[in-house]
Amino acid sequence: MAFASPAGASIPIHVDTRPEPKDLSHHLSRATKSREASAVKVFYKYFAIPGIAQLAGGLPSNDYFLFDTIGAKIAFPNRWQPTPNRPVDPPSLDDSSLSAARLNGTSSRQSDAVTVPHSSAQTNPLRKVDIATALQYGTAQGYPPLYRFLREFTQTTLHPNCPYKGGPEIILTCGNTDGFSKTLLAFSNEWSVEKDWIRDRESILCEKFAFMTAIQTAKPRGLNVVPVEVDEEGMRHDGPGGLRDILENWDYSRGKLPHLMYTVTVGQNPTSGVLSLQRRRDIYALCSKYDVLIVEDDPYWYLQFPSATARNTTTVSDPLNVSFNPNIEMFANAEPRPDGWKSSGFKYLDSLVPSYINIDTDGRVIRLDTFSKIVAPGCRLGWLSAQPAFVERILRITETSTAQPSGLVQSMVAEVLLGQDEADAKSPPAQDKGALRQGWEFTGWVRWLEGLRGNYERRMNVMCQILESGNQLVKTGRRNSISSIVSVDLNADEWEVVEKTQMYSFEWPVGGMFIWVRLHFETHSLYPLFRRSSTEGLDRFSRALWVWLTKKPYLVLVAPGTMFSPTPEVAAKEGWQYFRLCFAAVDEEQIAPISQRFADAIAAFWKIKDPKVIEDLLQENAESEKMPAKAAWVPLIGIC
Ligand SMILES: Cc1ncc(COP(=O)(O)O)c(C=O)c1O
Repeated sequence: MAFASPAGASIPIHVDTRPEPKDLSHHLSRATKSREASAVKVFYKYFAIPGIAQLAGGLPSNDYFLFDTIGAKIAFPNRWQPTPNRPVDPPSLDDSSLSAARLNGTSSRQSDAVTVPHSSAQTNPLRKVDIATALQYGTAQGYPPLYRFLREFTQTTLHPNCPYKGGPEIILTCGNTDGFSKTLLAFSNEWSVEKDWIRDRESILCEKFAFMTAIQTAKPRGLNVVPVEVDEEGMRHDGPGGLRDILENWDYSRGKLPHLMYTVTVGQNPTSGVLSLQRRRDIYALCSKYDVLIVEDDPYWYLQFPSATARNTTTVSDPLNVSFNPNIEMFANAEPRPDGWKSSGFKYLDSLVPSYINIDTDGRVIRLDTFSKIVAPGCRLGWLSAQPAFVERILRITETSTAQPSGLVQSMVAEVLLGQDEADAKSPPAQDKGALRQGWEFTGWVRWLEGLRGNYERRMNVMCQILESGNQLVKTGRRNSISSIVSVDLNADEWEVVEKTQMYSFEWPVGGMFIWVRLHFETHSLYPLFRRSSTEGLDRFSRALWVWLTKKPYLVLVAPGTMFSPTPEVAAKEGWQYFRLCFAAVDEEQIAPISQRFADAIAAFWKIKDPKVIEDLLQENAESEKMPAKAAWVPLIGIC
């Protein structure tokens, strides 16, 4: 469509012809359906009237705020070096696009100074960043300038292929834990074994191994947690225990057919899978058929590693393997980008396997984004994206719970992204004298994310290489028969043989921060003993290894797979076989020695022949668990 400008020239106007999302309000919980808008809301439009005397709200005077300004030293967006977007690409060091945003700095630790002024002269609330507004009571959807930035970024850049009209609406959250908790309030009714019928019990689907905080949020509401089979990509749609199997053969004696799914589709925590677009389509089709809402918790979306795709594929150099053809547009998992797929405008973002929102024809996806892994977890900042009717209900929940994320954090992040306002440049704070600080805008923000991906990808490569080279126990000896190794006798006339025992295996993570290691306990000489001993025997054997790792000289703490088992059945059947290793937290130069210590510890454990060593480890651990913590003042860091 084209409209005539006053001068007579025609201006093309983009008309959004996408269909509206479906009305899925039947999914709302009883409490959420009955929520009313905050009574304060009716006043908002009057607040904006110039010169109006504000005697209505219970707002403290901003003159009395403790903070006059807020300042910080921050990184330049190009502090870290990116890695290639595809196994076949050179790294993108496209600084020419950055110069447009006048971003200086190199990959060094130079920093930039950012100050949020007390009062900005800017009159547009969507551009105004200052203490007087950010630290005042605000709107539950988020601090307006940051909300505007993220909304536009979400609609135009993160999910340009969203199939419904207008694209997703957003609301700021205090991170994904908060976003998920509000989502559960919105879409699930509490159930109690004491007073409710089993037929009313609601269920939530999740991956067979899942992020434990999410499960711990769902269980106390009485929800039936239903694990779905996974493979190296993530949730399976087909096969035994896959989504179709569960939904088609739902056992109503367990309660209602599940209407909610919790899923982590990139860098799945803990298995590290990255769900392909094709698998998403298969799962989405089932969710659409059985009317299931998809809650996509995606903290690791920006951390997708094409180099791992190449390492997991033995056919990279095979010319017949078109998935690695340099002339084909592909995602980080080497899946070709569909024809006609809209670009974000950034090569790096285009290379990432897209969110479910991009195929959400019904409007049944609730997506959770967080700043935790890309700015800092302590910011407690994130945003939720979904069809507008859902976001409006989450807004009502926010109004009566967190109200909004902290104004300190929102204004700092807004200041970084938007920059200093020209209106305020005339009287800049002392440290900014003479210079108008440009905001990062989309270009700088994407460059920052790309650099972070580079750093985590390099860490992942270092750890994986070391773990891979140590995954087999190599025993050289001499044999006088095919069936047995005898003690080494260099003078005897026997065959020299090398025996390799696989102690563990893993896929190189195509995304996220974790390596999901499967321990091949069955190759340990003491395995038959523990398998026979009791139903918990193998769990005890695994626990002994976990304790062994924490001992000198190894001193490595890993997360046991049982922690991520959503049900006791999964823990007992498979959870004990896995450990999750995070390559993100330790100092960069420590990654190689720590990885080596892990591999050495496993090899030493595999050499243990005496069951008493294992029993002593377990005994010692049981006793230490009974003792009060020795170092009560050691700062506690949460395990995610
Ligand atoms: C899958 C997943 N969701 C959510 C979180 C927590 O996110 P936030 O800090 O935004 O609450 C984590 C942290 O490890 C995570 O792995």
